Amino acid sequence: MEKNIYPINRRRLRTGAHMRELTAGVRLSHRAFIQPLFLDESIDRPRAINGLSQVEVDTADTILKRIETDMLAGSQKFLLFPVPESKQEHPRDFSFAASVVDRIKENFGNDIWLATDLCLCSYTTHGHCGILSEDRQQVLNHASVEVLTRYALQLAAAGADCIAPSDMMDGRIGAIRTQLDTMGLEQVSLMSYSAKFSSQFYGPFRDACHSAPAAGGLKDRKSYQLSPFNSNDALATALRDEAEGADILMVKPATLYLDVISRLRQQTSSPIAAYHVSGEYAAVESLAAQGLLKRQDAHIEIWAALQRSGADIIISYAARNARQWIEQATY
Ligand code: PBG
Repeated sequence: MEKNIYPINRRRLRTGAHMRELTAGVRLSHRAFIQPLFLDESIDRPRAINGLSQVEVDTADTILKRIETDMLAGSQKFLLFPVPESKQEHPRDFSFAASVVDRIKENFGNDIWLATDLCLCSYTTHGHCGILSEDRQQVLNHASVEVLTRYALQLAAAGADCIAPSDMMDGRIGAIRTQLDTMGLEQVSLMSYSAKFSSQFYGPFRDACHSAPAAGGLKDRKSYQLSPFNSNDALATALRDEAEGADILMVKPATLYLDVISRLRQQTSSPIAAYHVSGEYAAVESLAAQGLLKRQDAHIEIWAALQRSGADIIISYAARNARQWIEQATY
């Protein structure tokens, strides 16, 4: 018998689409996706977002139509970003967000799952995610948690299925959980932005939500968001949020922090959500617009990477295409 000079043949696994499909370690499903929605009180028709092609900011009226269209395409889970018209130093009025949540759930009931982002950056005159100290040099933790907890309660009472705190204050998960439970809202879940890094890649989002930080001495979010140079802090913060009662842990941005997703996967059995953020999405869109990659295939490749690294849930600006794209995906 002739000796096989290539005894370790791995290429048979890659021979033909059927074989690749059969032996794939990752299978995507649109059921794992969350579609972000933007809603601005100050506009009277949908507005385009710089860098985020195919994504628009809605009005309180057009958002209902948007959800309806998304549902027809197979999306059922949404993450809402409400942007109020008036900005304050110390926000108190959350009635716009609460009324829209109420209206959306009134319309769609349990046909959809509605999470609402919880943060003050779209509410404050200075664009920071919490309440500033008098000298405007610090974001105050305790005062911010107090306001956020009140806001969370209103969103939950209005019918939100899930509250997603993205402010990065310490102790807010425990405070919100306790308050919700005390008020009989124990069925409302918490998806914590638990490993949220201080990143350049939130640019298009900040344009959509008027939320760029602009306070005198405090021009970035480094004193509360995680450092890209410290993954141990990210892990400890995520596990702390889990201990305080977070149901879902999030890593954000997604593709730059696959190591964090993967390490967190090994340390928790809680579901992990990966948020492919606005700048990451815009980078793909920009390459696609220049004909340097295939948009649809690029998003599929990214989603596969997120799942491979250990994410259960994917938050993507292209989530509304997930069912169609995954169906058409070639392995
Ligand atoms: C609000 C918030 C941000 C994002 C989600 N919630 C921006 C920020 O922290 O500056 C980013 C989402 C994205 O870029 O897609 N705190």
